[in-house]
Order: sequence, then structure tokens, then C-alpha cells
Amino acid sequence: MKPAEYAATQQTEFLAELQDFLSIPSVSTQAEHQPDITRAADWLREQLLAAGFPRVDIIPTAGHPIVYAEWLAAGPDAPTVLIYGHYDVQPPEPLELWNTPAFEPTVVGDNLIARGASDDKGQLFVHVKAVEAFKATQGTPPVNLKCIFEGEEEIGSPNLAPFIHANQAQLAADVALISDSHILATDIPAIVYALRGMAYVEVEVTGPARDLHSGIYGGAINNPINALARLLAQLQDETGHVTIPGFYDKVRPLTAEERVELSHIPFDREAWLQESGAPTDWGEAEYTIIERTSARPTLDVNGIWGGYIQPGAKTVLPSKAYAKISMRLVPDQVPTEIAALIKAHLESLAPPSITIEVRGLHFGDGAIVKQDSPAMLAAVAAYEHGFGVRPVFMREGGSIPIVAVFQKVLGIETILMGFGLPNDNLHAPNEQIHLPNLYKGVQTSIKFMELLSIA
Ligand code: BES
Ligand code: MN
Ligand code: MN
Repeated sequence: MKPAEYAATQQTEFLAELQDFLSIPSVSTQAEHQPDITRAADWLREQLLAAGFPRVDIIPTAGHPIVYAEWLAAGPDAPTVLIYGHYDVQPPEPLELWNTPAFEPTVVGDNLIARGASDDKGQLFVHVKAVEAFKATQGTPPVNLKCIFEGEEEIGSPNLAPFIHANQAQLAADVALISDSHILATDIPAIVYALRGMAYVEVEVTGPARDLHSGIYGGAINNPINALARLLAQLQDETGHVTIPGFYDKVRPLTAEERVELSHIPFDREAWLQESGAPTDWGEAEYTIIERTSARPTLDVNGIWGGYIQPGAKTVLPSKAYAKISMRLVPDQVPTEIAALIKAHLESLAPPSITIEVRGLHFGDGAIVKQDSPAMLAAVAAYEHGFGVRPVFMREGGSIPIVAVFQKVLGIETILMGFGLPNDNLHAPNEQIHLPNLYKGVQTSIKFMELLSIA
């Protein structure tokens, strides 16, 4: 039997195993799920051993463990692929919006619904099964394999870059492979060639030393919530243009050729709007929606709080106001520099009647990968085999900061071989993976390794 045939006969088993994996609530940001993180890492270790990896380590970090696996069966002349994925998931809340429980994976039609189904347990599982198919049929995979599966991606990967810096020789590879993104539709596979970076800051504004009666003090003491609202309003104009001085200085401009390429990506504005549920689109008019959401930097307030938010009225002049702000960045913006710019700008705008503190929460570089490497050509052909259609190249608005680390520290490019769909509900209730994509994904991964071994 060939690996592809084996994978085709094993779909029921694959599904049952993935349901098992998804039933572990490996939420990285919530301390009470620490034991589940450990369970998920152990589960992966067993799976990797069963798939044939002779070496699987669970490497403790200051946070959640990294699962590292290695199988160098193809010899020194064969290429080495470094597979990355994350076994941690976003919190499932708000629970009441799930149609079926987040950690009771449920098949509805063609979809498997569970937190982590697409982001990223389901997608990393694809490659584990591809390797299993080689083990079960040919005994060994045709390329050398190294896997890094981390448990902290959804909290900004604080311990991953240090691990990679410290283990460069061990992690040496020819190319990295990541399935943690989506294609455009079941019949439009896509390879992501650019990702946005991220600078995330938290702002704390303090007015009076304690909450005050707004009748007694209001009018003569600045309200930190009012002041924060004014500050935030000065970060961006009505069209989405960020007004922080220097913000756009290092933005690598889109070339005319790239804009033409991006304009050929199939995009249905009405369907996109419908899916968003928003009344109409918004943003920099001189850029298309695809450009705005993937090739232009953004600034979004992700949360804002302070004062009285319980039912009814309370006439308080609060002491504190807070906001969380994330900025999606594009090459070659430097996240720490952008954080310094917003900090300096907010401090310069802050009136003397309040104090302000701006703290960096996390940072990740954006990346653009080469579209013409031998591995990329193998990936294109593998998708064509797995999905029956040639993939399109697209930029992605989300962030996978490790791609830039692989480029800078290991000197390798990454193939972003996504198998999700745009409506997978990532980070939202009713996250799902389209099961036919999952099975086609295994076929694509098998083909990729086969083609790369003869590239
Ligand atoms: N898999 C996503 C990133 C992603 C989303 C890629 C959609 C392609 C399409 C990843 O797990 C994620 O959520 N990343 C965070 C990064 C942050 C925590 C640094 C993001 O983009 O918000
Ligand atoms: Mn992910
Ligand atoms: Mn995610």
C-alpha cells in the first residue's frame, strides 16, 4: 500500500483520534488549565511515537512545555523539514454561544466543531498523520523531520524564540512547514507568503488617587476615562490612517506588480461583508479590502475599561481607566520601535491633569517568504495533487511571529500550508475544521514530503 492509500483508508481512525486530542482543554492563558496543557503535550508525545518518531522530548520552559520530535531517517543527503504547530488553544468563552460544548468535539455535517479544531490542533495533526502513513507503509518518511509543537502560541510565544536561539544546531533544517492558516475556499487552496507582525500595548491612565463623587469634584478634576477616550481618538483618523508620528516610516511599500497579483485573488465583497455582520466596510480608501486586511498596518483598541459598569447608574469620577491596543504590522516595521512610538506619542499628548503608563504586552515580527524556492514549488504541486486545483498566493493579516524567527535565526524560509477555511471561527465560539480539508491536508502533506525528497 502507498502512504496516500493508507491515509485514505484511515479517515475514521484519524477523526476519532483528533476528537480525543480536541477534548483536552489546553487553554494556555488560563492557569487552571495547566494540567490540561501537560496532558495535551503528553498526548502529542504518544502520537508522535506511534507515528514512528524515534525521539520525542517534552522540553520544559519557564511557561508551557515544547514538544520536540526528530526522525532523521532519510539520510544526510535528503532535505530536512522543520514542522511547527501549537497545541495550545484560545479560551472558549463566551460558553453560552457554543452550539455544542467547546471541548466535546462534535461532527456536524462536514465539520468537526471544537476549540482548537482549526487553530491549531487539527492542522498540526495533519502532519502527524502524514508521517504515520509513511511509517505504516514504507517504514520511514522520505525526508528528515524535526517537529516543534509549542504550548504558548496564543499567549505570544514568550519562550519559543529563546529556545530556538539556544538550539540552532539541533534545529538546523532546509525549510520550515507550518499549517496554522487558512485557504480561501474548499476549491481555492492558498499558500500564504506574507504575515503581519504585532505590537500589543496596555495603557493605564490615572486621575485622582481614588474614586471621587462626580458631583463634588466633577468639572475641576480630569476624568481619566474621558482623557483616555481623547487620547485614543488621536491615534487614528476616521479613515483608519494611524496618526502616530513615524508609524509608517519603515512600511515596505506594495509594488505595482504585487498589487496586480493581489487584485487577482478571488474576493466577493458582498459575501465577505455578510459574513462579518458589519453594515459596511471601512478603512484606507486608496487600498483594497484585501490590501487593508493583509498588507497594511492597523491599530485596534481591543479592550477599554474603568469606572462603573454594573447595572444602573453610579455618579463616580473614577481614579483609573485602561485600554489594550494592538497594532498589526507589516514588514519592515519593528514591533518594539512601534511600541516606543505609541508610548512617546501618548505621553506627549497626555495633559498634566492625569498620569499615563504604557506597557508592552507582546511583540512579533511580520514576514514575507520567497515564492520561488524548490520547497515552495513542491508545496504548489502538492496542493494541486491534494485539492485538484493550483493554489493562489496570498498575504495573511494574522500573525505567526515564529516565521520571522526562523528566517533570522535559522536562516530558513517557511511554507505556510494552511488547511483551514475563512469561516472556521478562529478564537470565536463554534470553531470548526472542514473534515474534507483535513483529509485532503494529509494527502497534501504526504505529497509535499515525497516531492521535496526528489526536488
Ligand atoms: N493561527 C493564528 C494566526 C492566523 C490566523 C494565521 C488566521 C492565519 C489566519 C494564530 O494562532 C494566532 O491567533 N496568532 C495571534 C498571534 C498573537 C498572539 C501574537 C494573532 O494573530 O492574533
Ligand atoms: Mn494558530
Ligand atoms: Mn490563534
